[in-house]
Amino acid sequence: MAKYSIAWMPGDGIGNDVMDAARLVLDAMKFDAEYRPCDIGWEFWCKEGNALPDRTIKALEGTTCGLFGAITSKPQDEAKEELIPELKGKGLVYFSPIVKLRQMFNLHTNMRPCKSYPGNPLSYRGTLISNPSGGEVAIDQVVFRENTEGSYGGVEFYPLPESVYQALCLNPKMKPWKDKGLENVALSTRIVSKQGCTNICKQAFEYAKKTGRKRVTLIEKPNVLRETGGLMTRIFREVAKGYPGIWADEANIDAICMWMFKNPQDYSVLVAENMFGDIVSDLCAGLVGGLGFAPSANMGDTYAVFEPTHGSAPKYAGQYKVNPIAMLLTVKMMFDWLKEDDKATRLEAAIARVIKEGKVRTYDMGGKSSTMDVAKEIAKHAG
Ligand code: NAI
Ligand code: MG
Repeated sequence: MAKYSIAWMPGDGIGNDVMDAARLVLDAMKFDAEYRPCDIGWEFWCKEGNALPDRTIKALEGTTCGLFGAITSKPQDEAKEELIPELKGKGLVYFSPIVKLRQMFNLHTNMRPCKSYPGNPLSYRGTLISNPSGGEVAIDQVVFRENTEGSYGGVEFYPLPESVYQALCLNPKMKPWKDKGLENVALSTRIVSKQGCTNICKQAFEYAKKTGRKRVTLIEKPNVLRETGGLMTRIFREVAKGYPGIWADEANIDAICMWMFKNPQDYSVLVAENMFGDIVSDLCAGLVGGLGFAPSANMGDTYAVFEPTHGSAPKYAGQYKVNPIAMLLTVKMMFDWLKEDDKATRLEAAIARVIKEGKVRTYDMGGKSSTMDVAKEIAKHAG
């Protein structure tokens, strides 16, 4: 029997391309695992009215962890339009299967490292004022994004039911919305808990401590989002007290988008609520070469699902053209989580080497190589 059982979830579009690349590298590295193919994504929404079928949830329960490619998500109206005729008009509601998976398995911590590898022509170089040499700027950031609550908690209404309106009128600021007609009002909530905030802050500080990082920055907006942002900020300060050697500072989400762009090398560990973490991690990804370089781990207490942060990029689907490096760095994160330290080190070194040598590159890096060519080159050095 294999040492590990991995739920294999390519999903949609380029999710399939990059997962094929991952498999090639895993096999070359003789990773001792059996792979359980699991249905997830748009096809299953259209055919079955459920992008995350129950059989997939069951299958996941019997595995060590999951590897996930990407899914396609579309707004509600379009989603309903694409259902097979037998399922139309049955009141089915689309939800993102990866968001649901994070909530169902309580994968509370989304970790997203963004690191500039030397020789990557896409890495941020700054301006001639901030970086007169024009050389590379060393960026090494890790975003800890709360993964189950906040703006992506899924508690939404449209139109706004009268009972919800009445309940919200406990806050007098709600009253004027009635004049607009509740049928014209849409509501998405941002619900955070002490538990959720405490956990994500602790994860960020613990990681900083374990890896010898000296700075943890909270990304929030407590001057406007007074209750949710306020709670997160108070908890962040409380948790920070347990880590006296680490500089704990705070930035507003809007301000950090500017500071990060000006001085990305100054940041190390970043911690944020679900949506802010999602936004800022794409910014971080942009600084180190784009979505082709951004891996992530969704981690709970005993289970984890690993995925590149990019989506299904439908225009490139099946062309084996996109960069597999985000996916392969994701595999490296899986090795870390499994404590397969030697494999993690070998894979990252092979990725860094192939980036630096610059001989085999996908289109985003200015090359002409395919997804699988890059995977083969990395496998050659990692295997
Ligand atoms: P996307 O990440 O799929 O692609 C945006 C663009 O980024 C692509 O057109 C391509 O130019 C570039 N890109 C992405 N991955 C790349 C790679 N590995 N190598 C080189 N270039 C790469 O985002 P988009 O277009 O906003 O969304 C497409 C679909 O993906 C939507 O249905 C969206 O809902 C879904 N999505 C799914 C996610 C997930 O599965 N976790 C995350 C983000 C979007
Ligand atoms: Mg995102």
